[in-house]
Amino acid sequence: MVTFTINERELKAEKDQTILQVARDNGIDIPTLCHNEALEPYGACRLCIVEVTKGARTRIVTSCLYPVEEGLKVKTDSPRITSNRKMILELLLARCSKNKVIRELASQMGIEQPSFKPEYLEDNDCIVCGLCVRACEQVVGVSAISLVNRGITKEPAAPFLEPAMDCIGCGSCFYICPTGAIKMEDRKETRIIYNWKVEFKLKKCKVCGNYWAPEKQLDYIKTKWNLPEDFFDTCPTCK
Ligand code: FES
Repeated sequence: MVTFTINERELKAEKDQTILQVARDNGIDIPTLCHNEALEPYGACRLCIVEVTKGARTRIVTSCLYPVEEGLKVKTDSPRITSNRKMILELLLARCSKNKVIRELASQMGIEQPSFKPEYLEDNDCIVCGLCVRACEQVVGVSAISLVNRGITKEPAAPFLEPAMDCIGCGSCFYICPTGAIKMEDRKETRIIYNWKVEFKLKKCKVCGNYWAPEKQLDYIKTKWNLPEDFFDTCPTCK
């Protein structure tokens, strides 16, 4: 165990815990966009920045990646952090000026409009946080998409911007996206994920007749867990 402070409150935690984990366990709010407890931290959005003082040195770090240490002094809302976080939100708002989530976060910091908007920057809902890519790789185990290109053209996509052949249609990317940038639609018998240009046939329940999950996703699970061929013939409700 190590002892340290967050906003001058003395706390104890395991050495390998991150500042963000400990802060949340103790009811201290730090905003995040690219963090999800089911995934490895990535440090993309920078919204979770905090000020840490170790000995005579004070610096800004991302709390989702930085582990607590003995004697560390952490500040989550110092004037320097507030000003830097505002700048990060201005940048996000310049890219995603119509996005509800980003607008609300910016508004909480008193920013209603970005003070700049480069002409070359097209409006986008994607903040390139990589959550969709990481969920696909680390939770689903498929890696159907990755982050492609560089700079302002960086985006999640399937290889060569073609339809995502390895996608199983589970929709994890859609559910985990913090800004609603991934567009998925369930029609009667099919699921479409527009971002990856893919369409899946949904499985029909033998009992209630409802279409309930992509056949490709169910086949993937059956193979992975060595389940009987008829395991998914009925939907979870009828089971
Ligand atoms: S939550 Fe830490 S960088 Fe995004």
